Formats: sequence, structure tokens, C-alpha cells
Amino acid sequence: MGQLLLTGTERFLGKNEVIVSKTDLRGRITYANRLFCSIADYQEHEVLGQPHNIVRHPFMPRSIFKLLWDTVTSGQELFAYVVNRTKHGDYYWVLAHVTPDRDPSGQIVGFTSCRRAPGQAGLAAVRPLYADLLAIETSTESSKDGLAASFRHLQDTLERAEKPYDQLMHHLIAAE
Ligand SMILES: Cc1cc2nc3c(=O)[nH]c(=O)nc-3n(C[C@H](O)[C@H](O)[C@H](O)COP(=O)(O)O)c2cc1C
Repeated sequence: MGQLLLTGTERFLGKNEVIVSKTDLRGRITYANRLFCSIADYQEHEVLGQPHNIVRHPFMPRSIFKLLWDTVTSGQELFAYVVNRTKHGDYYWVLAHVTPDRDPSGQIVGFTSCRRAPGQAGLAAVRPLYADLLAIETSTESSKDGLAASFRHLQDTLERAEKPYDQLMHHLIAAE
């Protein structure tokens, strides 16, 4: 990946605003609401059909996305704090709730994410954790080893918290 432009400017979601998107099984965007497009400076036609990493911010650890995909493809829901990048390099933090979509036979046919403004307590807990995970991921020569070590650190952290990730997130939400 080439150097991504980052402005360092943060954008904020309003208290009652919800960013919604849906993807197919491979993570290609099949739906994006108006707020998704406006906060990230995209037109709807620019995001439909694109991989969801179109809004990926380099601060996000890969292990969080591994956990996201492992969880939703196994049929579970996940709460996760995510920082995203706008088209022109600004950033915005969200608390995402990602769920699998099923057809009437129960088969998973895609995924939905609804995101709200995160609270300060949650962000304060997650920022240093993500910085640690990212440092682990970039500290090894092989990116595969880095991801494995980062994922282990994430699991250890969650085990020490005696809560799976989504419960930890609920805990953080409740603390806000
Ligand atoms: C429903 C859904 C919503 C997603 N939302 C985001 C998002 O807001 N930001 C993001 O960076 N990745 C999101 N992802 C994860 C991306 O598909 C992708 O795994 C991630 O951006 C890492 O991309 P990379 O592996 O190409 O680096 C979402 C995935 C799904 C299934």
C-alpha cells in the first residue's frame, strides 16, 4: 500500500446519528446510508461494490479485523471500536455493532454494521490497546508472524479482562 494522506483532523458523529453499511460475504459494500457517505466524503456510487477497507485507517490493528471476520463468519455479533479514514485523510472514531445477515434457511448471506459515536471511557481504554497491537504487528519481519503475535496479545488481554471482546465492549459502554 502506498502512503495514505492523513490530515490529523478528527470528525465527530452526532449523539443520535448512526452510520450503516452492509456487505456481501467478501466484504464488498452493498449498502451505505447517507451518513456513511457524508462523514467519509464519498458519493454513494464511489463506495457501492468497493471492499470495505476503503475507509480503513492505518492506525487500526489487523488483529481487530481478524477478530471481526472470525466472529461474524461464525454467526456471532461483535462490538468493536474502529477508527476510520475519510476520503481526504480525516479520521472518525465509531463504536460498531457488526452482525451476520441470514436468508430464510439460516445461511449467512452478508453482514451489517451500525455505528454510533463512542464514549470517552471506551476510547481511553481502546487507544493504548490498539497502539500496542499495531506495534506488535509492525515489529516482526513477517507480517503473518506479526498478526499472530498481535492476535495472541489481544486474546491475552481479553482473557485477563475475563470477558470476551464484545462483553468487554459492553462493559466499556456501560462504564460511560
Ligand atoms: C459489515 C462490515 C463492516 C465493516 N466496516 C469496516 C469499517 O468501518 N472500517 C474498516 O476499516 N473495516 C471495516 N470492515 C472490515 C473490512 O472488510 C476489512 O477487513 C478491514 O478494513 C481490513 O482490511 P485489509 O485486510 O484489506 O487491511 C467491515 C467488515 C464488515 C463485514
